[in-house]
Amino acid sequence: MAALLEVQNLSRHFGLGQGVVKALDDVSISLTKGEILGVVGESGSGKSTLARIVMGLDQPTSGRVIMDRQDLFDLSPRDLRKARRNFQMVFQDPYGSLDPRHRVGRIIAEPLHLDPRAPKGAARRDMVGKLLEDVGLSAADQDRHPHEFSGGQRQRIAVARALITKPRLLVADEATSALDLTVQKQILQLILDLRDEHGISVLFITHNIGVVDEICDTVAVMQNGRLVETGPARQVLDHPAQSYTRRLLAAEPRLDVIGRRSRR
Ligand SMILES: Nc1ncnc2c1ncn2[C@@H]1O[C@H](COP(=O)(O)OP(=O)(O)O)[C@@H](O)[C@H]1O
Ligand SMILES: [Mg+2]
Repeated sequence: MAALLEVQNLSRHFGLGQGVVKALDDVSISLTKGEILGVVGESGSGKSTLARIVMGLDQPTSGRVIMDRQDLFDLSPRDLRKARRNFQMVFQDPYGSLDPRHRVGRIIAEPLHLDPRAPKGAARRDMVGKLLEDVGLSAADQDRHPHEFSGGQRQRIAVARALITKPRLLVADEATSALDLTVQKQILQLILDLRDEHGISVLFITHNIGVVDEICDTVAVMQNGRLVETGPARQVLDHPAQSYTRRLLAAEPRLDVIGRRSRR
C-alpha cells in the first residue's frame, strides 16, 4: 500500500558553527493508512522536532515530508492550509492545551476555522456533540469549561478537537505521559478504537517504550536526532538489535494491560 506519510532524510539543525545541535539527523520513516507508528527515545532525542515538522509547524534544514504524495514544503500557503486538515496533533499537557476561557464546544470546533465551508450553527453543534460521544464524553459537555473536567477527560476533549477535520493522520506527542496509569490506558484504548473505526494513522510519540507495546504496530527508536532502530513493534520490543533500545526497555516496565486484540 502507498504510504500516507513519508519522511525522507529529514534533518533539523539549531544554532551555528561549533554550537550546532542536530535535533534531527537524516531521519526517514513511513506510515501507511491505519498504522500506529511509535516514535520512542529519551528526552532530547528529537521526537517533538519531528512532530512539529511533520505538522508543518517548523521547517527542516534538509529533507522532505510527503503527505499523500504532496511535498509539504512545496505547497503554497493556501494549499498548506488545506492539507493541514488532513493531519492534527494532540499534545502532552491536557491543562495547557485547552483555552480555559472558552467553552468546550468552541474549543473543539476551533480547527474548522481553516475551512470556510465547514458547518455552522446547529449543524456544528451536532457535529461537536457526536465527536464528544465518540471520545466517551457526552454531547452536553460542549457547554462546560475545561476546568470542569479531569486530566483524562481534557485529553479526550483534545482528541475530539483533533478529529473534527476528519484527519487521516493524528500526531500524538507524549499525549498520555502526564496522566496516571489507569487514565493512560483509557486514552490508549481510545486511540486504538479510533484507528479501528476510522482507519486513521497515528504517529505516537513517547519517551516511555512500555506504552508502545500496547498500541503500536511499528516502532522507530531515536537517539540524539538519529533513527537507531525501526521495525514491527513485536520484533523491536522482544528482540531489540541496539543496546540503546535495550536500555530504554530496561528502564520502563511494559504496561501490558490492553492486550493485543487490536494489533494486526
Ligand atoms: N527551537 C529550538 N532551538 C534550539 N534547540 C532546540 C530547539 N528545539 C529543540 N531543540 C533541541 O533539539 C534537541 C531535540 O529536542 P526535542 O525534539 O524537543 O526532543 P524530544 O521531544 O525527544 O525531547 C534537543 O537537544 C533540544 O534542546
Ligand atoms: Mg518532546
